[in-house]
Amino acid sequence: MRKSLPFAALVLIGSATPLAWGQKDASVQSIEAYRAMLQDGNPAELFEAKGEGLWSQKRGPKNVSLEKCDLGKGPGVVKGAILELPRFFEDTGRVQDLESRLLTCMETLQGLDAKAIAETPFGRGEQNNVTALATWIAAESKGGRFNLPQTHPQERISFEVGKRLFFLRGGPHDFSCASCHGEDNKRIRLQDLPNLTKNPGDGVGFAAWPAYRVSNGQMWGMQQRMNDCFRQQRFPYPGFASDATIAIQTFLGVNSKGSASVAPAIKR
Ligand code: HEC
Repeated sequence: MRKSLPFAALVLIGSATPLAWGQKDASVQSIEAYRAMLQDGNPAELFEAKGEGLWSQKRGPKNVSLEKCDLGKGPGVVKGAILELPRFFEDTGRVQDLESRLLTCMETLQGLDAKAIAETPFGRGEQNNVTALATWIAAESKGGRFNLPQTHPQERISFEVGKRLFFLRGGPHDFSCASCHGEDNKRIRLQDLPNLTKNPGDGVGFAAWPAYRVSNGQMWGMQQRMNDCFRQQRFPYPGFASDATIAIQTFLGVNSKGSASVAPAIKR
């Protein structure tokens, strides 16, 4: 069900519709005012609290918490972890993003079935727990600056693959990610399309997820963001935590170097 629009959005629609292209500044200002009003209260806090609880809760067939989960900075270290993900992990032999790494920990520590969770639709069952955990973990690094490692050969390969995927055109409209996110000052509906090939575009786009989405009242992790953009691109849906979605994040994350994380953000 669609939520009723906040008052600010109605004002915005009323004032933005008759604007001509030349008056873009006014519409941009209205959007900024709308966004500022959104910042008043971010429901992401509820998901943060849930995620924090899940981290220390004994769960799964093994009845163990995630407190020994290694997110790249050593077992149990949460602060700063998201600022260096995706990165290479020796134990799995893979470059992993936050959500795929959570699946690894949920399986190895708690005995949950990572494949089954990956195949669960967004917004259901354990997927909701992954999102809440990712939201809390991201919040622990809010304000920190992105600094993805690029020392391991697999990390450099992941960047190159991600870059190629970002510019790969195909599908019924011959779109690539770059068609919508490769230039400055693009916008669809009320949403700016950050130029994700550089900073600050990635500092705005990549560095904001997980984010609470006002338009549908849902908390989305980066995997769901990627998934929905594959849809926008009219590509088949990618697998949850697939190497392709991770590689794109390596590309965006490396481009974000030095940007401050604002996750969990609140978005249209
Ligand atoms: C047809 C246009 C289109 C294509 C192609 C597209 N996106 Fe998007 N993207 C959007 C729109 C529109 C949004 C804003 C989300 C919304 O409001 O629905 C968005 C949002 C995003 C964001 C979040 C930006 C922010 O401000 O937080 C990221 C990151 C992103 N896209 C990445 C990608 C990647 C990676 C690809 C290629 C796999 C891609 N997009 C392909 C239209 C597109």
